Amino acid sequence: MDGRRLGAQGPEVSALGLGAMGMSDLYGPADRTESIATIHAAIDAGITLLDTGDFYGMGHNELLIREALRVGDRERVAISVKFGGMRDPAENWVGYDARPEAVRNFLAYTLRRLGTDYVDVYRPARLDPTVPVEETVGAIADMVKAGYVRNIGLSEVGAESLRRAQAVHPISDLQIEYSLLSRGIEAEVLPTARELGIGITAYGVLSRGLLSGHWTAERSIGQTDFRSHSPRFQGDNLTRNLALVEALRGVAEAQGATPAQVAIAWVLAQGDDIVPLVGARRRDRLAESLAAADLTLDAEDLAAIEAAVPHGAAAGSRYSEAQMAHLDSER
Ligand SMILES: NC(=O)c1ccc[n+]([C@@H]2O[C@H](COP(=O)([O-])OP(=O)(O)OC[C@H]3O[C@@H](n4cnc5c(N)ncnc54)[C@H](OP(=O)(O)O)[C@@H]3O)[C@@H](O)[C@H]2O)c1
Repeated sequence: MDGRRLGAQGPEVSALGLGAMGMSDLYGPADRTESIATIHAAIDAGITLLDTGDFYGMGHNELLIREALRVGDRERVAISVKFGGMRDPAENWVGYDARPEAVRNFLAYTLRRLGTDYVDVYRPARLDPTVPVEETVGAIADMVKAGYVRNIGLSEVGAESLRRAQAVHPISDLQIEYSLLSRGIEAEVLPTARELGIGITAYGVLSRGLLSGHWTAERSIGQTDFRSHSPRFQGDNLTRNLALVEALRGVAEAQGATPAQVAIAWVLAQGDDIVPLVGARRRDRLAESLAAADLTLDAEDLAAIEAAVPHGAAAGSRYSEAQMAHLDSER
């Protein structure tokens, strides 16, 4: 697989990364053996970026990655970790903590759970509203100096916070939602990241599975599944969004591809400073996603995709109102 650099000064990684969240959390039950087999298949196919968060299954996801990594794998893959999200034992979200002392505390647990001496990219999942971004980034920069962290990333922050953070320490990449259905970053965040030499790791490239072509209105989801609260998966919004997916399916079939592959290839085509994270947790889904890296979209293909899923066509916001309030990127 081709490589891409995370920002002007970040590490070189594979053009697609693997996000492990769904193997532990938020998308209903996952099969542990199949999850580990999927991580192995991804690394064997050349994926060199694994993304996790310490709060995905409250440590479960990091322990899973540790178990999956075989001898020699740690040297091959960059591990990106988000921290700061706090949850209670019933998995309710109870806020964000990105104070300097919390940075050091979260990192100590992460290193122990991952069984590693360093994290390749460390980032707050959201800004802590009570802590200036300079203080959080400054605390991670201390951990870079101490050798526990190699690069500093951010997640879901806006242009102003990117500038303030970059003034403290070089930022490798901003992790943020970007897909045919979520194009908010195009106005200000993406141009600012480019000006500052900060890369993008794009998540939700399938809009949480909605754009995959595998989602149906009949699919039953449990209360703890993110999608049971996501505005895009409800009622009329879902009907309208699935109509967009059918239009995309028409374009994909004409290219001998699936809607998921076209949706991932579209994000890849937006610039070689963007690394899409695929959320596959089964080997068949991974294989489908990986084929997107070989799909070349020319100007005519991109125009057909734009006609099928025009800018701003998504019905419903990308998070619930309460969760949107935590997004610095949406201010
Ligand atoms: N920074 C942040 O705030 C943030 C937020 C969310 C996620 N992330 C990171 O980004 C990663 C990816 O996000 P995401 O999981 O929401 O991405 P996504 O690719 O939009 O959605 C993944 C979902 O799509 C479904 N799917 C169907 N066909 C697929 C295919 N061919 N390949 C992959 N998935 C397919 C999977 O469901 P089935 O398994 O049921 O088929 C999976 O649940 C996460 O793992 C996490 O590391 C970051």
